[in-house]
Amino acid sequence: MQLELSDFSAVERSTLRLRVLYEKAGYRKFRCSRFEEYSLYQQNERFLADAQVITFTDLDGHLRAIRPDVTLSIAKNAQPAPGECKKYYYTEQICRPSRESHTFAEISQMGLECIGAVGPAEQAEVLRLALQSLAVLEVPVVLELSHMGFVTALLDAVGVDPAVRPRLLELLRDKNAHELCAEARRAGLSAEAVRELGAILTLHGPLAATLQAARTHCCCAGQRAALDELEALCGALGPEGEGIQLDLSLAGDMEYYNGLVFSGYVDGVPRAVLKGGRYDLLARRFTPGACALGFAMYLDELERLNAPMTDAAPADSRTWINIALPKGRLGDKAYGLLAAAGYGADEDYNATRKLVVENARAGVRYFLVKPSDVAIYVEHGAADLGIAGKDILEESGADVYELLDTGMGRCRMCVAGPKGFADDESRALRVATKFVNIARAHYESRGRDIDIIKLNGSIELAPILGLSDVIVDIVETGTTLRENNLEVIEEFMPISARLIANKASYRFKYRQMTALIDKMKEALAK
Ligand code: PRP
Repeated sequence: MQLELSDFSAVERSTLRLRVLYEKAGYRKFRCSRFEEYSLYQQNERFLADAQVITFTDLDGHLRAIRPDVTLSIAKNAQPAPGECKKYYYTEQICRPSRESHTFAEISQMGLECIGAVGPAEQAEVLRLALQSLAVLEVPVVLELSHMGFVTALLDAVGVDPAVRPRLLELLRDKNAHELCAEARRAGLSAEAVRELGAILTLHGPLAATLQAARTHCCCAGQRAALDELEALCGALGPEGEGIQLDLSLAGDMEYYNGLVFSGYVDGVPRAVLKGGRYDLLARRFTPGACALGFAMYLDELERLNAPMTDAAPADSRTWINIALPKGRLGDKAYGLLAAAGYGADEDYNATRKLVVENARAGVRYFLVKPSDVAIYVEHGAADLGIAGKDILEESGADVYELLDTGMGRCRMCVAGPKGFADDESRALRVATKFVNIARAHYESRGRDIDIIKLNGSIELAPILGLSDVIVDIVETGTTLRENNLEVIEEFMPISARLIANKASYRFKYRQMTALIDKMKEALAK
């Protein structure tokens, strides 16, 4: 029997094609074992996606780890001579904690690394290979490019406190304009600096045109240098570069990437399938003066490309905007805003038991879900947009864009307890809450040891019945606390309903989404 490429799954076909692509480009296969000395990760923890790794004591008594990353091993092994550039590709299984399953998960990665003398020609080559790697998938794709220097030079120029830099970068990554500006103001930045930081969020679109727009926002030599590098790259790529989008808010992890950063999205896959960038700092931990650039493809994500649409899934979901609404009062308010913006559904969902209502003319469909599930639907791409309380977003840690603060459903996250409560610091504080992650992060930030008691509702009962000392919960009018003889001890997080978006949908339905968001803003302003 003769095997045809079509006999293989989409992932297998892509793997074979990527191998041919990388071999032809002169990259050598790097094969590594599943295990690595644990000390490699211990010493380079800041370059890992997650500090948690699986360790074990090997038969020789050495502490080893199941590899959570391939790049570190390649960077350690490459040892390029001065002026030399070593080029590798790999296909490996790595093991990382999965936020969703709360267990370690195996991840299939295929990628390439260029280590040593990485000049403009190598940068153009790696970008070209990233574009070609996505093209291999034979579905609509987007490759987005940025340069860390554009953001970090601005942060340096305006003198941002190193302690708040990671938070500002995170807000940029989340496209969270409202909190970015508020945080920057809190950090003492001038009105002009806040404006320039916010403007970065508008700098995305086709490479050449966006580069021009970015020039008008240059505040310092570092930013100009970043744009010069991008422009040279754009020139070197020629017509091929037209497939690249520039998004200067795409700020990778500051510890890891120091120059170009890029990520690739595929229509139909809710997360980035390709991530890469320049990581000289890591390379120099093993070879002084070395530079490095590479990317990884997340092969498991591509498995969705094989999955046929089920009958229940709307066949035209790729053109409609699907919005997850929280059932209940907040959802009704949010829906009222969307209807005022011209996106009302053809039937009143409160008058039926239907969980999906739509408006074909506006190309919009609403899913009614439990409030705590909105972010999950959006993160996984089952919905393109969603309305979720900031409390739910923080608690879930969902990887989504936060595009708008609707200002609806305002309340605050508080610590509350019996009137006159005095904390006995000689023992762990017992905290009852629905918001385990928020409570843990809050007390960790102040170094207070706590025992968490997870409840699902009527939290106020816990201190009354002696189940806990205090509670961490949302307070809106304060009536529930008052009527149960409790009081606010500390307020620490303002909450309101936010419009969130799936990261891939944002790329593939950008036009429809921005039209909807603009109309929502107009309706809010009225
Ligand atoms: C929330 C929260 C408080 C109450 C606060 O409960 O958990 O109990 O609202 O509102 P107030 O300050 O206006 O009194 P929710 O209604 O969601 O019910 P739950 O007890 O099931 O959490």
